[in-house]
Amino acid sequence: MMNRKAFVSNSLLGLSGSLILGDLNASNVPQNEEMKYSLEDIKTGNKLPDNESYWKKVATFFHRPAGFTQLEHGYFSHQPQTTLNFNQLAERNINTQTSEFMRTIQFNEIEKSRKALAVFLGVDPEELAITRNTTESLNIVIMGLNWKSGDEVVIGNQDYGSMVEAFQQAEARFGIVIKIANVPLLPKSAAEVTDAYTSLFTSKTKLVHLTHTINLTGQVIDTNSIAKEARAKGILVAVDAAHSTAHVIDKIGSLDADFIGGSLHKWLCTPVGVGYLVMKKQIIESVWPLMGDVGVAKNNIRKFEHQGTRPINAIQSIIPAIEFHNAIGFEAKLARLQYLKESWLSKVDGKNGLHCISPWNSKTQGGAIATIQKENYTPNQLSAKLMTDYKIFTVAIDHPIVKGVRVTPHLSNAIEDISYFAASLLKF
Ligand SMILES: Cc1ncc(COP(=O)(O)O)c(C=O)c1O
Repeated sequence: MMNRKAFVSNSLLGLSGSLILGDLNASNVPQNEEMKYSLEDIKTGNKLPDNESYWKKVATFFHRPAGFTQLEHGYFSHQPQTTLNFNQLAERNINTQTSEFMRTIQFNEIEKSRKALAVFLGVDPEELAITRNTTESLNIVIMGLNWKSGDEVVIGNQDYGSMVEAFQQAEARFGIVIKIANVPLLPKSAAEVTDAYTSLFTSKTKLVHLTHTINLTGQVIDTNSIAKEARAKGILVAVDAAHSTAHVIDKIGSLDADFIGGSLHKWLCTPVGVGYLVMKKQIIESVWPLMGDVGVAKNNIRKFEHQGTRPINAIQSIIPAIEFHNAIGFEAKLARLQYLKESWLSKVDGKNGLHCISPWNSKTQGGAIATIQKENYTPNQLSAKLMTDYKIFTVAIDHPIVKGVRVTPHLSNAIEDISYFAASLLKF
């Protein structure tokens, strides 16, 4: 256990009072009073998913809300305190240096984060743009391709609404044709999903858009099998990896895709407003940036980062976020999240009018996310009942295809939260 230190250590303050970040990272960032453990304390130990003493240590890194049980971590994640403290120091530093930081230091800081993120994702840094989120990343692709009227795009029936809307805008603006693959809720095989997409490919198909982890249910799609068939037909492949990054895939670079968009504020637990876009080198030149940029070469991935003045401290915080993730390790983290999901579902699925509509009892099928229905309850009624009577926060999904309550535990949840949730579901 580490010694508790003051939130801002004096040794980090220069003579002028400004903060010197230097080689500050999550391992040596000064801790605030609440912190009980350092990253060193969670790097080793028995990380089996049901070893509560290890996972209780990990949970102490997060601020838990008072007054309710939070089981909706799918929107974005809280930052662990190591990242939060770093982020606050970095913000304070920028607030001190102001334009001197923006005109000189920020460029090198962004490159440092790009390099670290490229290693983490398993991609080439020259194919990696740091964006604000998946929405921005995939809008760059959808709005930036040289569409011709009549070009076809194949998307999924459970794709994220913002991407569907972007394609609808491209339909109105460029005259593209949208074809929708019917991905079954509980597919019998991966081939069934692959066929739903590939059966829609024609000689006019320019792009297939695949959601790797469907946010509505947590279902994971074998995008590489679909990509293989797309490649054979010269079709471009875009993957929405918003929920897959730092959650269900270790190295995003293992996905066969021309474009991959992701959000780091979900499962990498960075500050809100950090995402990425991976784009194959040979395609970069032909894609228009969303924000006009003639300052960098057309084949330079940085042309997609022209966002104007923005919080660089969030980008700097990618590094401590990776350090926290690595201290636990991808496999241990995923196994724990799957364990939390399976712990409640094994108690309630098929009982008391409750039916899970996520493929949950297979290790290849996703991480923390699962969605449940209850007979005689609309999704809104069920989530409202859970909050009003049991003080459990979830989210109602009322989508044309998916209707239920989505439940997303996180590393901040104790097994007691999960048992309490399962017991509550069986009470009414
Ligand atoms: C599958 C999927 N794609 C994209 C997004 C958008 O993410 P962001 O709001 O970070 O852009 C989400 C958000 O939940 C999502 O679940």
